[in-house]
Amino acid sequence: MSSEVGVTSAEFRRACGRFATGVTIASVLDAQGTPHGLTVSSFTSVSLDPPLILICLGHRVSAIDAFRSSAHFGINVLAEDQRDLAERFTRKGQDRFDGLEWRRGKTGVPILAGVLAAIECAVRQRFTAGDHDVFVGQMVRARVAAGAPLIHLAGRYRRLDVSR
Ligand SMILES: Cc1cc2nc3c(=O)[nH]c(=O)nc-3n(C[C@H](O)[C@H](O)[C@H](O)COP(=O)(O)O)c2cc1C
Repeated sequence: MSSEVGVTSAEFRRACGRFATGVTIASVLDAQGTPHGLTVSSFTSVSLDPPLILICLGHRVSAIDAFRSSAHFGINVLAEDQRDLAERFTRKGQDRFDGLEWRRGKTGVPILAGVLAAIECAVRQRFTAGDHDVFVGQMVRARVAAGAPLIHLAGRYRRLDVSR
C-alpha cells in the first residue's frame, strides 16, 4: 500500500532549496566544435571506484542534444567571485562563451579560466528521470585550484562564512 502524498512544485522547490549546493557550469563541445554550457547545481559524486559523478539536465535545455551526442562533458566548479558566470550561463540569446577565457580540455570539453575545479568526464550512462536526463560520467581528468566556492541556497547565491 502506498503512503505517498503529492507535493506541489512550489513545495518541491522550497524543500530542495534548503539543500545548499555549489554551482557549476556543465559544458560540452558539439560536433561542429562549438562550445555549449549552462549553470548546473545538480552535480553529485556517485562512486569512488570507479570515480563516477552525475548531473541532471532538463529536457528543455537548449544544448541537451549536444550533451546526448557527446562522449564527454565538462564540469567547471565556480569560485565565490564567479557569480557573473553563473548568471551569464542562464542568459538566453547570446553566445555564452563569447569574450570569455576558456580552453579545450584533454577530452575537448570547454574549461573556463579561474574555476575551483575543472573536471572532464566520459559519459558512462544516461537515463531519463521525469523531465530530466541523468548523465553519469566517469571523471577522467580533474584540476583543482585553491579558493572559496560559490554557494546556492534557497534561490540565492551566497558566500561561505569561513570565519565560523
Ligand atoms: C543555481 C542554478 C542551478 C541550476 N541547475 C540546473 C541543473 O542542475 N540542471 C538543469 O537542467 N538546469 C539547471 N539550471 C537552469 C539552467 O542553468 C538554465 O535553465 C539555463 O538557461 C539552461 O540553458 P539554456 O538556456 O541554454 O536552455 C540551474 C540554474 C541555476 C541558476
